[in-house]
Amino acid sequence: DLSITIAGVKFPSCFMNASGALCMTREELLALGRSRSGAIVTKSMTVEPRSGNPEPRYYGFPGGSINSMGLPNLGYRAYAELIPELKQFGKPVIASIAGLCEDDFLTMARVINQARPDLIEVNLSCPNIPGKPQIAYDPVDSERLLKRVRPLITVPMGVKLPPYFDPAHHAVMAEVIAHCQVDYLNLINSVGNGLVIDPTRETPVIKPKGGFGGLGGALIKPVALANVRAFWKLLGGRIPIIGTGGVVQGLDAYEHVLCGASAVQVGTVLVEEGVGVFERLERELAAELKTRGLRSLEESRGKLKEL
Ligand code: DHB
Repeated sequence: DLSITIAGVKFPSCFMNASGALCMTREELLALGRSRSGAIVTKSMTVEPRSGNPEPRYYGFPGGSINSMGLPNLGYRAYAELIPELKQFGKPVIASIAGLCEDDFLTMARVINQARPDLIEVNLSCPNIPGKPQIAYDPVDSERLLKRVRPLITVPMGVKLPPYFDPAHHAVMAEVIAHCQVDYLNLINSVGNGLVIDPTRETPVIKPKGGFGGLGGALIKPVALANVRAFWKLLGGRIPIIGTGGVVQGLDAYEHVLCGASAVQVGTVLVEEGVGVFERLERELAAELKTRGLRSLEESRGKLKEL
């Protein structure tokens, strides 16, 4: 049984799409509904619809992906209208909101909350708006925003964070999260501002931002696991974590669970393989549990042994 519960919400499978992967249009969201995805997670929405950055803006390569999408989305009003339709599939709907300024989060939270998604995810970590630093790299801004948005949301509220690379940064952000009534964490967003180049053409592989973009896929797994583990320990295992980053095979999900994740999300490999990926991952993880003589994921959650 690969079902899990986060903040009192039951998910039929621990595998679901990562925000941004095949989840922008109505058609894509309905396809996630019909698939084995354990939830339907929306593309991060903004107040106004956006066409995003110039193409090419996503590139997959052996080992991972790079993107600088620039928040293409239908705008929050369209997602507010779609959410009731998405609830027909009998699995959780997670609405991801990403303001271009603090007040945008408040505007969207009020209206999206009224549309009754199962959970709302506040994305503090979009790295791809030219000239805008991500909120989550400023703990003071993050805390002020979370304290203002939290009272507007009556469903469980999650926060999506970027990777941090220093234990002092993990500690200060864990304090912010602990003081803002956050119901779950999603760790991690893409590893920001990498550069992948094509040595034959002597160019970057994507067009926006001189080729700089967020890295995903297999190559970011150690960074994702470190962040899941760091926040799990700092928060005493009391805030559920969705592990995102480097989930390519069933065993990768098991590694996230050992570090403390309750569920996992799939970005790069979902884009590369399509929604059939969920069936494969379920089969692979079920085989891992069987090999280990385990009946559920909870038995292993956070149980990484230290040397
Ligand atoms: C985009 C990328 C992100 O990593 C994110 O969190 C939100 C939006 C984007 O470029 O569209």
